[in-house]
Amino acid sequence: MPRVLLGQTLSFDADPFAEGIKAARHESHGAVVLENGHISWVGPAEARPVSPDDTVVDYGRNLICAGFIDAHLHHPQTAMIASWGKRLIDWLNDYTFPEEARLADPDYAREIAKTYFDLALSHGTTTMCSFATVHRTSVDSFFEEAQARGLRAITGKTCMDFEVPDTLCDTAQSAYDDSKVLLEKWHGVDRLEYAITPRFSPTSSREQLHALGALWKEHPECLMQTHLSEQLEEITWVKSLFRDARDYLDTYEMHGLLGERGVYGHAIHLEPRERDRLAGIGASVVHCPTSNTFIGSGLFDMAGLKDSGLSVGLATDTGGGSSFSMLRTMAAAYEVAQLRGRALHPAELIWLATCGSARALHLQDKVGNLVPGMEADLVVLDLASTPAIAQRNAQAESFWEALFPTIMMGDDRAIADVWVNGRRYNQKIKTKTLRCACAPRGVGGSAPAPLGAPPGYF
Ligand code: GUN
Ligand code: ZN
Repeated sequence: MPRVLLGQTLSFDADPFAEGIKAARHESHGAVVLENGHISWVGPAEARPVSPDDTVVDYGRNLICAGFIDAHLHHPQTAMIASWGKRLIDWLNDYTFPEEARLADPDYAREIAKTYFDLALSHGTTTMCSFATVHRTSVDSFFEEAQARGLRAITGKTCMDFEVPDTLCDTAQSAYDDSKVLLEKWHGVDRLEYAITPRFSPTSSREQLHALGALWKEHPECLMQTHLSEQLEEITWVKSLFRDARDYLDTYEMHGLLGERGVYGHAIHLEPRERDRLAGIGASVVHCPTSNTFIGSGLFDMAGLKDSGLSVGLATDTGGGSSFSMLRTMAAAYEVAQLRGRALHPAELIWLATCGSARALHLQDKVGNLVPGMEADLVVLDLASTPAIAQRNAQAESFWEALFPTIMMGDDRAIADVWVNGRRYNQKIKTKTLRCACAPRGVGGSAPAPLGAPPGYF
């Protein structure tokens, strides 16, 4: 049975970094039609195809866009997000590794996965690419909980066999064997994908990096995710361990861990060779702005990297990042870019959190845009979700001006609804401002509810 969602809609015909804001398509009275878990039609509401079976959900002045895609995070760090006062290496040793060790307990790993997914969905994130812990069970529980929610999700066992606590240490052989078992078990099951996941070069022996490079060669269909050039102390450490490498990126390249399906988190302090090599090979980098300010890592060069043709995604980097919200993450990306002299347009920010992240994860044909044929993962944004945002929104003279306060000041309260794979997820999420246009057959049989936003807000 087709489901018709009415509201403002926002989609993209192209990358606004390349084409300007004409790449964005906004309908102030739009419709999105969902059928069999996919988007079947998008356009102006008055032009929509009408079928007698339609179930209509009218979101009024709320904005329907693609669900957010968090392209780099560590779900095992959910419970230690916002841990005070350390830079990267001490933060890993003092907070991260002890917490990740707790996920050796499968019950705890399951509890954390559940908590993480509930938080992510309540913040409008519908696709996520996470680093699990070194334990196989943390991968299993992540995938099982994602599968139960119908999510498109990616993870991999984090591999590390050098300079980490014994409790978190694998070996070159066990990293290869465990990753292979998990990859064969999960990759391509439902909407799940496996990513080969060396944590970063200073915590892997050369043998381990080499073994994971060999595994990637056997399974080029998988993503390979890791960290790159996040903090200056880290880069010094890497250079001291790999004296024969040309640069940080070369520590991966030497071991078969550079490729088109490589996804490199942070990439703040890249040298020109690294930037050109990544762009030339078609690899992706992921910007994690709340993490970069929270851990004090530095200011990502969005303008320079986009100009060089690199594929750039956006991510929370939970729990180095200080928020589960991709809205808050867009705000931080705006602030970081401002500190580098470039004001990112709201179209560019939403594009990064949807199409940009999808492209970084090679999912651009599946999710990240409102386009017929795409999987129906959607978020509905209330553009007046708090008194502070509503009063600013009320002054707006354009759609972009109406949207920008929600990007800068919004959080989970702005998430009016979420759809995952064509199914409405609002049973688990507080909803408001909803009205079913066809009351007798309303979604879930719900009675019409009054629109929350008074007329005249826009
Ligand atoms: N580099 C290696 N591991 C991590 C991690 O867990 N978080 C961040 N932010 N950087 C890392
Ligand atoms: Zn990370």
